[in-house]
Amino acid sequence: RTDAATDYYEIVQRAADQEILPGVRTRVLGYDGTFPGPTLVTRSGRRAVVTHRNDLPGPVAVHLHGGHTPADSDGYPTDLIQPGGRRDYTYPTRQRAATLWYHDHRMDFTGPQVYRGLAGFHLVTDDEQDALGLPSGERDVPLMISDRSFDEDGSFSYPASHHGAGVDDAHMEGVLGDVVLVNGAPWPVLEVAAVRYRLRLLNASNARRYRLGMDPARTPLVQIASDGGLLEKPIEHSTVLLAPGERCELVVDFAAFPPGTEITLRNSLGSGGTADVMRFRVTGRGRDNSRIPPQLSRIEPLSAERAVRTRTWTFRRSPTGEHPGWLLDGRAFDPERIDADVRLGEIEVWRFTSDLYHPVHVHLDPFQVLSRRGDGPGPHDQGWKDTVDLAPSESVDVAVRFTDYPGRYLLHCHNLEHEDMAMMAAFRTT
Ligand code: C2O
Ligand code: CU
Ligand code: CU
Repeated sequence: RTDAATDYYEIVQRAADQEILPGVRTRVLGYDGTFPGPTLVTRSGRRAVVTHRNDLPGPVAVHLHGGHTPADSDGYPTDLIQPGGRRDYTYPTRQRAATLWYHDHRMDFTGPQVYRGLAGFHLVTDDEQDALGLPSGERDVPLMISDRSFDEDGSFSYPASHHGAGVDDAHMEGVLGDVVLVNGAPWPVLEVAAVRYRLRLLNASNARRYRLGMDPARTPLVQIASDGGLLEKPIEHSTVLLAPGERCELVVDFAAFPPGTEITLRNSLGSGGTADVMRFRVTGRGRDNSRIPPQLSRIEPLSAERAVRTRTWTFRRSPTGEHPGWLLDGRAFDPERIDADVRLGEIEVWRFTSDLYHPVHVHLDPFQVLSRRGDGPGPHDQGWKDTVDLAPSESVDVAVRFTDYPGRYLLHCHNLEHEDMAMMAAFRTT
């Protein structure tokens, strides 16, 4: 249903069986009973109202990752839809075109609930992007990459802990699977014409990082967008690094390969079942009117000189055994506590420091990476980001400015087991 300014969607969250591995059924917790959930598309400037009905046995919360969303629709982890309940989430979509995704955000149970299937794409489109002549239609392909493990009977194998929430000591680094799924299918093959494609990569894994490249590598991966939409200019990579929660949009020209070629998207950080992600099979020549303009967009730099303050956020494992988990600034997440007060419209520098790998995600507005270990931003830090990959003992400075919506929001580690083990903080905008 749609009217002059609003698109309405209804999603039923329910359990269903899906054939993911050949010959066996996997019980998924799915948006509309499918994993991934339906892909929603909203035009920038139009309002999307998504009604979620919870037909699952446990509570849920829905978060639109990358969304510029009023607090009451942001899916705060204690702001739950109980079983049998329903709720309207309102997304004003006052934001530029970008690849967003929606996923579960229930307090202490985000890891298992996303692992079992609660994730989907929500794309925002706009005139600026349409005017560029990038590959579109069937040649614009969202690819949700996630790793899973399965039991004999086909069910997802998630190591539940004896405490109810979180995982046991063996999974402190997060839950890794041994099969890579793309849009819910193991190592799929995509037939492509020998033309340019836009690949919208999303790492929806709970804890796995990927370094992705094509094999054979006959053509560069041309990055055109990151978490928050278009870059200013395209960047050529031979491989791209993707931490949980991050998106990276590439244009790949399959005209570089003779028809009949099979190209594998490889993950050089994986081994065995996680070394390969998917394949592309070049079927034949096609007409290609697409282009990659040398200037994609303009991005207003958020300069550190305009920042009103620097805040430090430390991502570390608990030094003592008494809290079995991961801490942000030495504290476990408390949904009732506000950890920082921020004024709307002000630029702040946020300094993230880490002990190990932590993909740091901030709600409400994207940020710009200023520096990594005191050097400039890395090759995968360009444009507007909402999730940044922190390496062990690293310090990353970002500039952020929150706008429009007062309320309570989150920043957290997007390793979902770390998130469930309390590596999350709340900030309040006024
Ligand atoms: Cu993608 Cu707070 O999460
Ligand atoms: Cu988010
Ligand atoms: Cu972490």
